[in-house]
Amino acid sequence: MNTTRRSFIQRTAAASTGVFYIAKTSWAQKSPGDTINMAVIGFHGRGGSHISGYKAQAKDGVRIAALCDVDSKVLSGGLDNLNKDSKDKIKAVGYSDLRKVFENKDIDAVSIATPNHWHALASIWAMQAGKDVYVEKPVSHCVWEGRQMVNAARKYGKIVQTGTQSRSSREGIFEAVKWVQAGNLGKIKLSRGLCYKRRPSIGKTDGAQKVPDTIDFDLWCGPAPKDDLRRAKLHYDWHWQWDYGNGDLGNQGIHQMDIARWFLGEMTLSPRIWSVGGRLGYEDDGQTANTQIVYHDYEKAPLIFEVRGLPESSTSKDMDKLKGANVGVIVECEGGYVVVPNYSSATAYDKDGKEVKTFKGNEDHFKNFITACRTRNKDDLNADILEGHLSSGLCHTANISYRLGKQQKPDEIKEQIKADKFAEESFGRMTEHLAKNNVDVTKDLLTLGPVLKMDTTTERFIDNDKANEMVKDKYRAPFVVPDEV
Ligand SMILES: NC(=O)c1ccc[n+]([C@@H]2O[C@H](COP(=O)([O-])OP(=O)(O)OC[C@H]3O[C@@H](n4cnc5c(N)ncnc54)[C@H](O)[C@@H]3O)[C@@H](O)[C@H]2O)c1
Repeated sequence: MNTTRRSFIQRTAAASTGVFYIAKTSWAQKSPGDTINMAVIGFHGRGGSHISGYKAQAKDGVRIAALCDVDSKVLSGGLDNLNKDSKDKIKAVGYSDLRKVFENKDIDAVSIATPNHWHALASIWAMQAGKDVYVEKPVSHCVWEGRQMVNAARKYGKIVQTGTQSRSSREGIFEAVKWVQAGNLGKIKLSRGLCYKRRPSIGKTDGAQKVPDTIDFDLWCGPAPKDDLRRAKLHYDWHWQWDYGNGDLGNQGIHQMDIARWFLGEMTLSPRIWSVGGRLGYEDDGQTANTQIVYHDYEKAPLIFEVRGLPESSTSKDMDKLKGANVGVIVECEGGYVVVPNYSSATAYDKDGKEVKTFKGNEDHFKNFITACRTRNKDDLNADILEGHLSSGLCHTANISYRLGKQQKPDEIKEQIKADKFAEESFGRMTEHLAKNNVDVTKDLLTLGPVLKMDTTTERFIDNDKANEMVKDKYRAPFVVPDEV
């Protein structure tokens, strides 16, 4: 990078009061050897892996030029760590307001690991300012946002990678998908995603909590309502409150939802959706389900998703397993089944459970993003934003059914789902699991959502105004995801 570009980064960092504007010109194509200047936005948790992922590519011309976080403690710690190791004379600069990152013309691409409610707006603003984007999963907080992100990526010709890193398991899951789709185990009967991951209570506060002094709370809330803080821990536990997070379905679960859809080869949202579940076993400040079944009725074969946040029993710390997996995917086929027990491998079994074939191996997802930034070809991405939108959307539509649901007795629920043997079997296992955790579902009732029908071309529900109201969030000005990207 030449001196003018370097001093520009410093100047921009110093000028912290500039007005945010949208540059509609696209980022000039770089030649393969040019440095790519990255900014990582939000790094209390996952963003730390983004920083490591780009640092590891320093020898290939990737430079972290800026870090951005609304928590000044996170920001200063991140800058200190990054700059102490850096051999670069020009140090990375820090921002608390992501709009300043987008104004900085020296930044080529941004990597976003903020809470979910910020993903779409931050990505769209970045694209409008000419940057490529790596954005964490779920890419959106609601269905509509994801489609807006796809529209923006196509309009501005931007490279947008979804943070579902299992898509970079090329020798592993990718090969297994190809093998199954080639018919090696016959037709798929069911694609099942599992997210059996321990999620204990986040505690119950008795009123508004004090926001830590280090946090710019207005910017933290951004597009979401700026209500009182009603959880003990500001960071991370937002996952379990609807204004910011999407429950474990849209947290850990989106990874496995994505793999389950990948095997089916479906490139639309599902046409018929319902969900059942509850937040059971404790009372806390969380709102999202910790135990949930989701049914996506694709024509080829259904996709069922199971979430369990409680352990296998009240006396155990271990989680349940199904066919050897607890956070994974099981693809049931006519001639056997495939288990994906992690982010980088898959094993095929015949009908008798005898191992037939194993697929293993993964590439670096951050590296794949940088490769595509250089080739300027979205088809070089392992997880283009369209894939991210669809898999995130499957979590959102399921949560809409759940949130519109009614508490019902287990027999009433059984009666309504018994026509589908996969659903009935999944529900049976779910109630057994709850019983082992001393949850009596005849008293702590489960919530069964309505069956929602979706027009998959418009991504709107058919004849259901209440559900359609939840397709798009209500934004808090000036943090509004634009109708026209
Ligand atoms: N791909 C993966 O395997 C993986 C793993 C964990 C988390 N994630 C995803 O990463 C995202 C972050 O999760 P986390 O667990 O790190 O959450 P976290 O709450 O621990 O960290 C989020 C960080 O973003 C910062 N932030 C909030 N608003 C911001 C803004 N407007 N500008 C700049 N910074 C802002 C917060 O201060 C915090 O430092 C989530 O979307 C999550 O789903 C992905």
